[in-house]
Amino acid sequence: MLNVKNDPFLDSVGDLISATNIRNEHTILIVDDEINNLQLLKRTFRGKYKILTASNGLEGLETLKDNINEISLIVSDHKMPIMEGTKFLEEANIIAPDVIKILLTGFSDIEIITDAVNKCSLFQYILKPFNPEELQEAVKSGLDKFDLASSKSLILKDLKELFYKTIKSIASALDAKDPYTHGHSMRVTLYSIILAKELNAPSHQLEMIETAGLLHDIGKIAIPQSILCKAGKLTDDEFMIMKSHPVNSEKLIASIKKLHEVVPGVKHHHERWDGKGYPDKLAGEDIPYAARIIAIADTYDAMTSTRSYRKALDHDIAIAEIQSCAGKQFDPVMAQKFVEIEGLIKAAKDNPEDFYMQYSTLYKEIK
Ligand SMILES: [Fe+2]
Repeated sequence: MLNVKNDPFLDSVGDLISATNIRNEHTILIVDDEINNLQLLKRTFRGKYKILTASNGLEGLETLKDNINEISLIVSDHKMPIMEGTKFLEEANIIAPDVIKILLTGFSDIEIITDAVNKCSLFQYILKPFNPEELQEAVKSGLDKFDLASSKSLILKDLKELFYKTIKSIASALDAKDPYTHGHSMRVTLYSIILAKELNAPSHQLEMIETAGLLHDIGKIAIPQSILCKAGKLTDDEFMIMKSHPVNSEKLIASIKKLHEVVPGVKHHHERWDGKGYPDKLAGEDIPYAARIIAIADTYDAMTSTRSYRKALDHDIAIAEIQSCAGKQFDPVMAQKFVEIEGLIKAAKDNPEDFYMQYSTLYKEIK
């Protein structure tokens, strides 16, 4: 039985989140080629913040890369040899878009600066010779903005983590209902996202397919254990009850707004390309994209797992079965792709947790 509390995957996600925190002490990177200016700037901020310095843009970029998790704000001179301040901040913005950027510049450069404001995501420019108090005030406002953005993104991250852990726990609880389906939801989800990526599914679909995969059998929670775990063949009546699970799943998740978009993938994962599936006998491309993907992943995992009524089939036999059902049970293009990537699927089957962390969109979003 899968123990959610001891799930190493969930633990590692939690550690990552709790390790993230708003910075107690801010680090400022100051970039200026004139040593006297550098000294003056350092004196302006001494005791208030941790200061890093660089004497040109290239050195500044290196320092930024080396201290990317510490630096909250950059103060850069504009007129510098090797690389002008606007160019440096433009490059810095690619490396660290969330870091606040302030430019020190002469009055004659105003037009260039105005043009560069958007490219650099410049927070503010200060005219030289600068007034230390004005610069201190700008830095303080910039750091307030940085802290606000950090706390917003932490809250968003926490919400995403809560959503993800809840979905994953529900899937694990379902898998635990039947010892023969241990890890089924996670593996089906894993094969689904691998196939979706190989089919170049748009990125917004990947998160949806992952959530639908985790919840695809959630309606089985309402199926009696005696039917779910029956060793022999199901009677017609029992099979009818079993076949109710996609509609049960729809009823369970349709009331949750955040899950509306995953309903089609969940409800229709037992439809067949030839129209002989259930619950709605949809055919061909009328079957939602996510459902066609999950159908292949679900069948492959069912075949390659030991069930109460039979032993697991070999990977090669399962792949041959998927191939022979292309255009009948499965979308022929998707089934063909699944057969083409069978080596990758086999590797994922042998090491599902590592592959999950590598392929999961939800996991990467909260990392
Ligand atoms: Fe199912």
